[in-house]
Amino acid sequence: MSKLAADLARALDPVRLAEGIGMLPDEWQADVLRSSHPRILLNCCRQSGKSTTAAVKAVHVAVYEPGSLTLCLSPSLRQSQELFRKVLTTYRTLGRPVASEGENALSLTLENGSRVVSLPGTEGTIRAYSAVRLLLVDEAARVPDETMAAVRPMLAVSDGQMIALSTPWGCRGWWYEAWESGGATWKRVRVPASECPRIAPAFLAEERAALGSWVYSQEYECSFAATSTQLFSEDHLRAMYDAQVQPLFPTEGDHHA
Ligand SMILES: Nc1ncnc2c1ncn2[C@@H]1O[C@H](COP(=O)(O)OP(=O)(O)O)[C@@H](O)[C@H]1O
Ligand SMILES: [Mg+2]
Repeated sequence: MSKLAADLARALDPVRLAEGIGMLPDEWQADVLRSSHPRILLNCCRQSGKSTTAAVKAVHVAVYEPGSLTLCLSPSLRQSQELFRKVLTTYRTLGRPVASEGENALSLTLENGSRVVSLPGTEGTIRAYSAVRLLLVDEAARVPDETMAAVRPMLAVSDGQMIALSTPWGCRGWWYEAWESGGATWKRVRVPASECPRIAPAFLAEERAALGSWVYSQEYECSFAATSTQLFSEDHLRAMYDAQVQPLFPTEGDHHA
């Protein structure tokens, strides 16, 4: 294939771009790479390839959509930078298909006007960007609701795409709510370790023994479990505020009809 034809193939199909870094995407990864769905939740086990997929997507957008802005958000700047580093590595491994004007630990600026920027994880320090084409939220279950509230409006004007990738972390928070009760707004992709061809059963047995079932079920089985530090389950807490549930030992202040 000529260079031009190869470039055209990559422009049209991000899976071809992934192949350019020696990655043969799993079916779900190819699906996410090709999807233009505006809201995607990736509930995929640890080491399944979430961040790698997000990074390829980011490079595809930056290279082939001139002037586009991609943001990488995580619970902390350090974690945002980890995802951003994957973006840089992907871009460099591809041989910098569009020249860069600036490459540092926080951002990549291309000659075609596109940018990929790493955000801090706390809403107080996030500066507002407008016309965001792609927002990647890594370790999404741990990104506070307040941070998401600060970031969401940045997608509004541009009709941008959000991909929120994570393993579950308790039955609370925006990512859990979106997965469980966010309705048809979201495209949901679920990949437990048993479906990842690169994770061996023997390794999983070892992890289960080392982590205990609470952590294991969230990290490798995509299941939401009440948090380990929580003395009372989510259901118990909810019941406290439920007028239908009678107290065991009514106090004087309790007047139930
Ligand atoms: N389709 C794939 N083929 C081969 N290796 C892959 C593929 N997807 C991901 N990987 C590798 O698997 C490892 C974990 O990927 P990563 O994206 O960090 O996972 P996650 O973010 O889900 O924990 C990395 O070394 C990555 O290069
Ligand atoms: Mg990751």
